[in-house]
Amino acid sequence: MKKVLIDCDPGIDDALALALAAGSHDSLDVVGVTTVGGNVDLPLTTANALALREFLDLGDVPVTPGSAGALLRHTVRAADVHGVTGLGDVVLPAPLRSPSEGHAVDFIVDTLRAAPGEITLVAVGPLTNVALAVRREPRVVEWARDLVIMGGSYTRGNHNPAAEFNMLADPEAAAIVFDAGWTVKQLGLDVTLSAVVTMDVLDRMRPLGRLAELLVPASQSYKAVTAEGGPAIHDACAVAYVLDPSLFTCVPAVVNVETTGTYTRGMTVTDFGVGDRRANALVATSLDVKRFWDLAMGAYERLAVRLG
Ligand code: RIB
Ligand code: CA
Repeated sequence: MKKVLIDCDPGIDDALALALAAGSHDSLDVVGVTTVGGNVDLPLTTANALALREFLDLGDVPVTPGSAGALLRHTVRAADVHGVTGLGDVVLPAPLRSPSEGHAVDFIVDTLRAAPGEITLVAVGPLTNVALAVRREPRVVEWARDLVIMGGSYTRGNHNPAAEFNMLADPEAAAIVFDAGWTVKQLGLDVTLSAVVTMDVLDRMRPLGRLAELLVPASQSYKAVTAEGGPAIHDACAVAYVLDPSLFTCVPAVVNVETTGTYTRGMTVTDFGVGDRRANALVATSLDVKRFWDLAMGAYERLAVRLG
C-alpha cells in the first residue's frame, strides 16, 4: 500500500486526480490533502477539496488549507480555464465537514516527520506549501519517500509560451523546491498534454453512475483543450506516476526555475546534459497513453461501483 499526501488547488484536473486516487484505494492510502491558492483562490480550492472528499468517499482524510498566495509575486489564477468556482460546470453537494485546524505547511512537516520514508508527497498546484515546508523543516526532503509534481515543461508553456501555470504561479517557490536536495519526479506538459479526455474516453465515463456527474461535466467544461480536441487532465498524471511509474519514460536532468525573466518567469530550464552534476529532477519524457487510460478508467469504474 503506497501512502500519498496530495497538495492541490482544485481545479478540474485536481478533482480527476483525487478521483483516481480514491478509485485506487486498494493500492493507495491518501493520508492527507492540503490546499493552496492556485487555479482559484484558497477559500474555493479548499471548499472544492472538502466537497470532493465527501463526494469521492475519501472518508476521514484530513483536508488542511495552506498558502493563499505566492511567496513574492502578484497572484496568478486560472478561472478562465477552470471556471469561477474552480470546478467548471460541476455542482457537488455542499461539504458537511470543515477543514482541519492548523496550516498545510505544518501538516506536511508533521505528517512526513511521523512516517519517515513512507509517504510520497504529490504536488499538483503551485509549490508554495511545499517550499514553505522545506524552509520550515529542511529534513522533509529526507523524510518524504518521494516528491512527485505536475508542473513545468522542457519544451513549452501553457499560461504563456514559456511557463506552465503551477510554476508561473509561484516561481520562487518552485526554485526553492527544485533546489532543496531531493530528486523531483516531474510530470510536465511534455507528457501531461497527451492525457486527453477524447470523445472515446468521455463515452467510457458516461455510464459511471454518480461518478459520471463529476467526470463528464468536469471534462466538458475544462477549458484546457488540446490540439486533440479534448482537455488534458494534467494532475492525474502525477497520481498515475505513483500508481505505476512504468507508464512513463523519465530522464535525469538539472532543472532551474527562471524567477527574473520578463518573458520567461516560471520557465523550467531543463538540462539533460547532467555530466558530473547531481540531477535534481527525473523528468518524464513520454507517457503510454493507452495504459494510462486503462489505469484511470479501471480506477474510475471501481470507484463508481462504490458510489452507486
Ligand atoms: O498547467 C496545469 C496545472 O495548472 C494543473 O495543475 C492545473 O490544475 C493547473 O493548476
Ligand atoms: Ca492543479
